[in-house]
Amino acid sequence: MQEVLPEGGVIRKLWIGETAKYREHLLRLDPQSRRNRFGGAVSDDFVRNYVDLTTALDAVVHGFFIAGAMHGAAELRPLGLQFPRQAEAAISVEGPWQSHGVGSALLRRTLLAARNRGFRLLHMACLAENQRMQQLARKFDAELSFDFESVVGEVEASRPTPLSLMRELMSDGHGFATAMLDLQSRMLRA
Ligand SMILES: CC(C)(COP(=O)(O)OP(=O)(O)OC[C@H]1O[C@@H](n2cnc3c(N)ncnc32)[C@H](O)[C@@H]1OP(=O)(O)O)[C@@H](O)C(=O)NCCC(=O)NCCS
Repeated sequence: MQEVLPEGGVIRKLWIGETAKYREHLLRLDPQSRRNRFGGAVSDDFVRNYVDLTTALDAVVHGFFIAGAMHGAAELRPLGLQFPRQAEAAISVEGPWQSHGVGSALLRRTLLAARNRGFRLLHMACLAENQRMQQLARKFDAELSFDFESVVGEVEASRPTPLSLMRELMSDGHGFATAMLDLQSRMLRA
């Protein structure tokens, strides 16, 4: 799976202990992107509490990293025991890195993780005016049904296969290796 990302960028899962990076990324979103990400204007405190909650829940977070800093994120959150095969996904990319394929790469990883966890239905709630997210969801054949002031994209995730599990493992390995190389080169520079 060859992805063209902005120079120096890698996509990998967020590691335990990296919550602050996720928080900083979300706090850096410009007002319009933050509004689109959360479906309305929210305060810094809201964002901080949200990140604490995400890490407490069983969420899978993929990040887009450059030189160790997170500039994009995709979150996959199970809806809970009552809806065992359903999850919610949300994506955010900081302004300077938007429209460079980062959102597509993050969504691709999230769909793979969803498939491997047996989720059949992925909810993506976004504002009706958020054309870009809708375009992005359409690229992955999302079926969109319109709701009051919002669009809910429902992506049917296909079944896990040995190949899809291997692809996720390989993606994680690649992320880990590049993160280690990145850390090493920064330590050498210091
Ligand atoms: C929506 C968002 C995640 C998309 O990420 P991105 O990195 O900009 O997306 P990509 O570059 O992968 O582009 C995905 C598709 O969006 C569309 N797109 C890209 N730039 C666009 C633009 N300026 N205007 C309209 N559509 C655009 C294209 O269809 C593109 O696919 P293509 O390149 O194959 O033609 C990003 O813009 C973002 O974080 N927005 C703020 C938060 C948000 O809206 N989150 C969604 C709530 S769930």
